[in-house]
Amino acid sequence: MEHLAIIMDGNGRWAKKRHLPRLAGHKAGADALDRTMHYCREAGVKYLTVYAFSTENWKRSEDEVSGLMSLLSQYVKSKEKELVANKVRFRVIGRREDLGAKLNAEIAALEEKTKDGDFTLLVALSYGGRDEIVRAARKAMAAGVKPDELTEEAFSSFMDAPDVPDPDLIVRTSGELRTSNFLLWESAYSEYYFTPVLWPDFDRKEFDKALESFSGRERRMGGRLK
Ligand code: FPP
Repeated sequence: MEHLAIIMDGNGRWAKKRHLPRLAGHKAGADALDRTMHYCREAGVKYLTVYAFSTENWKRSEDEVSGLMSLLSQYVKSKEKELVANKVRFRVIGRREDLGAKLNAEIAALEEKTKDGDFTLLVALSYGGRDEIVRAARKAMAAGVKPDELTEEAFSSFMDAPDVPDPDLIVRTSGELRTSNFLLWESAYSEYYFTPVLWPDFDRKEFDKALESFSGRERRMGGRLK
């Protein structure tokens, strides 16, 4: 498998079960992400996309939004050495302009410093699948693409990470059976794996189960197998 994508759900419930503030769940979620990157590396996965903050998440309490933003900023500022040493290329997809000048500058600096990595971590921030499609349509129009010229391939080139292959498998934790506006365009032929495990509890056993389930599936991609 080349590209794994994850909807990291259940941080809040994990914290609640432990009588901890929600932000403690998000911090444990960041640790689960670090672990998962190692599992991906060992399994030969080349791209990992994670849903860290949706366009809808701005509606959460001010406390939680600012807590998550400072957690992200801390992550971006403190991980440079580790990511470079592990050859991880850090990238962000989503509505960057929503994140503010400071976080944006930190993100751009980390993207530049990690650009030679051979494993790509894509973090979806202020991300919505419909929003990405609308922004791509606007970019295509602004570039003067004529209606007749707009093929699927041409349209893909206006998405946030046009050089990245579509996800093979999308995992959602915490038992919710929805896709929640994640990678709408890119997931056309993706397989899905849902697990009741809360994101901070996601471990190697869960990772292996997800990959095993994927490898047992027959992928027709809309065609017939010969
Ligand atoms: C969903 O759980 C999780 C989020 C909205 C945030 C995900 C963010 C992280 C894992 C932080 C770390 C990310 C990086 C890149 C450092 P929820 O809060 O909706 O959980 P609940 O449904 O149980 O309330």
